[in-house]
Amino acid sequence: MKNNPQDLKNMATVVLDKLVAYLHESQQGKGKVLLQKPADEVAEILQLEKWIKKGGLNPTAANQFMDAYLENTQHMHHPQYMGHQVAVPHVASGIADFIHGIINNPMAIYEMGPAAAVIERFLIHWMLEKVGWFKGSQLGDFSRLKNNGSGVLTHGGSLANLTALLAARAAIAPKAWTEGNPSDLVVLVPEEAHYSVARAISIMGMGKNSVIPVPANHLKIMQPETLLPLYQKIQDQGKKIMAVVANACTTATGLYDPLDEIGQFCQENQLWFHVDGAHGAGALISDSKKHLLKGVERADSLIWDTHKMMRTSTLAAAVLFKDQQAMERTFQQKGSYLFHDKEEMGFDLMPYTVECTKAALGTKLFWVLAAEGENELAHFIEETYDNAYQFYKIIKQQSDFKCLYKPESNILCFQYTKFGTDNDFQLKLRNEIIRRGNFYITSTELNNKRYLRLTIMNTLTQEKHIKALLNEIIEVAKIIAENK
Ligand SMILES: Cc1ncc(COP(=O)(O)O)c(C=O)c1O
Repeated sequence: MKNNPQDLKNMATVVLDKLVAYLHESQQGKGKVLLQKPADEVAEILQLEKWIKKGGLNPTAANQFMDAYLENTQHMHHPQYMGHQVAVPHVASGIADFIHGIINNPMAIYEMGPAAAVIERFLIHWMLEKVGWFKGSQLGDFSRLKNNGSGVLTHGGSLANLTALLAARAAIAPKAWTEGNPSDLVVLVPEEAHYSVARAISIMGMGKNSVIPVPANHLKIMQPETLLPLYQKIQDQGKKIMAVVANACTTATGLYDPLDEIGQFCQENQLWFHVDGAHGAGALISDSKKHLLKGVERADSLIWDTHKMMRTSTLAAAVLFKDQQAMERTFQQKGSYLFHDKEEMGFDLMPYTVECTKAALGTKLFWVLAAEGENELAHFIEETYDNAYQFYKIIKQQSDFKCLYKPESNILCFQYTKFGTDNDFQLKLRNEIIRRGNFYITSTELNNKRYLRLTIMNTLTQEKHIKALLNEIIEVAKIIAENK
């Protein structure tokens, strides 16, 4: 394949045909969800050595290569994929990826991709509006509106969390950028926060010890009444709270922290409130689900992944701020070749991101919305949440199955108890299920107890698939117990 338009067309036709067949089979639940082979075997099957050394991949060879490649994928469109909280992407999002892959507009500076830059800003306004932080009358108003919120898309929720915490630090310790961290800063973090929060704090050089866990109940939901005594204790120790973090929702269980109460506490005590809505902020677009994030508008920052519930391919996350000034003062730095005084046309996003070069991230969500409209996207979120609740009811009714809680989102955790509930057994069960490859599920530990965990990311996943999963669990458990 050479780098010319005709070869693009020839190759894209072959690849597209393969993808269409793959999607068709996956969506119909044909074949395995995942068939894992050892890494060296996969390298051999894909003939990596030959292709890398000699090149020459042409449409005929690509036919074979695509078969080998697709066979060794996680089949996310398969209704029996119920694993990690990563979107089963809408095909429209794939079109955005394709366009970006060909034209490559790294639009963090406006002149490197005006259309993509405008799409991102417009979508940020749309998201801000859902939170209650957009103060304009038209989403296309890009002027610096008084009291407006602001935001930017980053390559994922982990970077978005880091960006929000950097903004929180700039608010309480503006000199930290130049002089380093004051030694008295701490962050109140839910016991069950995503690891990227603690990682961000360590990356910022604040040290792991500055992470103060906030007590949670047995389901790891933050207990707002514990905040005041914790705050007083921290003050007595002569320390300052840089931010309070809450989950909307928690990775392990999909349950939401009580944002309204936590937000009220933060506002009363003038503390930065950061909400990690990587998975669950999508509920804001649904009239029937947005109550789960009641009080989110009290926050100072919110992150919201589009590659979880907004149906885009990996990877894009919004970091949103109630106050545009908070975003503007985060990175106190200039790069002369980029941030020269120029006659301003459009806007540059680079001053507000960790990344220098940035993909046209907003185009993924734009294509999904342009294909479905926001009401359909909201219905999708409602359906996955409601289906998870139906599946919970089915699982709960089965003898020897124990559900830990009533799900609020599309994540549910349960155990198969016939042969006991020890962690090792639950993990063996999960491992054997994924080794067989008919289903893909995950597991998680809560209060030192291991649970099987499902994330319902696909509206094609229906009751019959859940019943089949339960039968497979029963069968596999029997075999494990007999071979003990
Ligand atoms: C609550 C929460 N926050 C942050 C993240 C990290 O997001 P990303 O994988 O986009 O970096 C995740 C990922 O699952 C998450 O569940």
